[in-house]
Amino acid sequence: MKLNIAVLAGDGIGPEISVEGVKVLTATAQKFGHEINYTSALVGAAAIDEVGDPFPQETFDICTNADAVLFSCVGDPKFDNNPNATVRPEQGLLAMRKKLGLFANIRPIQTFDCLIHKSPLKDDIVRGADFICIRELTGGMYFGEKCEGEEMAYDTNKYTRAEVERILHVAYKYAMQRRRHVTVVDKANVLASSRLWRKVAQEISQQYPEVTTDYMYVDNASMRMIQDPGFFDVMVTENTFGDILTDEGSCITGSMGLLPSASTGTGTPVFEPIHGSWPQAKGLNIANPLAQILSVAMLYEYFGLEKEGKTIRDAVDASLAANIRTPEIQVAGGEKYGTKEVGQWIADYINKA
Ligand code: IPM
Ligand code: MN
Repeated sequence: MKLNIAVLAGDGIGPEISVEGVKVLTATAQKFGHEINYTSALVGAAAIDEVGDPFPQETFDICTNADAVLFSCVGDPKFDNNPNATVRPEQGLLAMRKKLGLFANIRPIQTFDCLIHKSPLKDDIVRGADFICIRELTGGMYFGEKCEGEEMAYDTNKYTRAEVERILHVAYKYAMQRRRHVTVVDKANVLASSRLWRKVAQEISQQYPEVTTDYMYVDNASMRMIQDPGFFDVMVTENTFGDILTDEGSCITGSMGLLPSASTGTGTPVFEPIHGSWPQAKGLNIANPLAQILSVAMLYEYFGLEKEGKTIRDAVDASLAANIRTPEIQVAGGEKYGTKEVGQWIADYINKA
């Protein structure tokens, strides 16, 4: 297969993990005889610094012309601490999602047995947790009408029936491939938007009689996720709730540096880690590249290249088993490997496999 990949490295640790993702993408392509063309483009603070826009037209064009985007992360403290900044790196990510029509964010929450000791939860609670959060990505408060005054501010949590329907269908399709259990997370006891979600979900669920559907308020779901994460199979929820719950999900598995995601919809799909830009670690060669590398596995799988995806997942498992790990997940007394060394080890393993 021939693939054109847009590489958006972004900010902070982004450029470092991006290199490792590309290394693994290339190693896998060589092994299976695929031809990959890469085009890099600016996004986030890097793009603001260079051209004054966190998602420039040129980047949009490069993404549109690509088959997939390999995205890393955006964000820079110089904007976080300035509430008056009129342009922010995060706007680049939101603009990319909106302009590419990426309404479905697929975030798998999986545990690695060898990292369970890193989870803040007890071993028997977290072991075997394996679910997918389907986060609606282009609606709700992040994109609704806003007012930002000195004395008053608001964000509007607006959803249309069509937006809710299409994301529910994504969730049910995943559930059909998994344990056939969908949990719709909302706040229907308080929010009008959530009541629309629930009404539409009750209708759509009829089309998938093989799937068990349950409904859970978001406050309750956040509790259930740490009490009994094994309960969930496919969770589907609106943009804001999904953003919050997936951070919770990623940390119960032991390290935020391990979880990839895919954002799909009508335009070019984007594959990106769940974690942020970790500016404090920039340039130190300590960031974990695994979430980025596993995003590459999701990229291959999106194109139906299951063997390629599995090869990458097996290589990641092998690196963990061999203790080739970045500092935050290394076992006591174990040697600490850098971002580059972990990426290289995995690429070499794939070459040899
Ligand atoms: C994420 C991030 C983004 C979001 C930020 C950087 C805008 O936290 O992908 O979860 O809130 O969606
Ligand atoms: Mn987030």
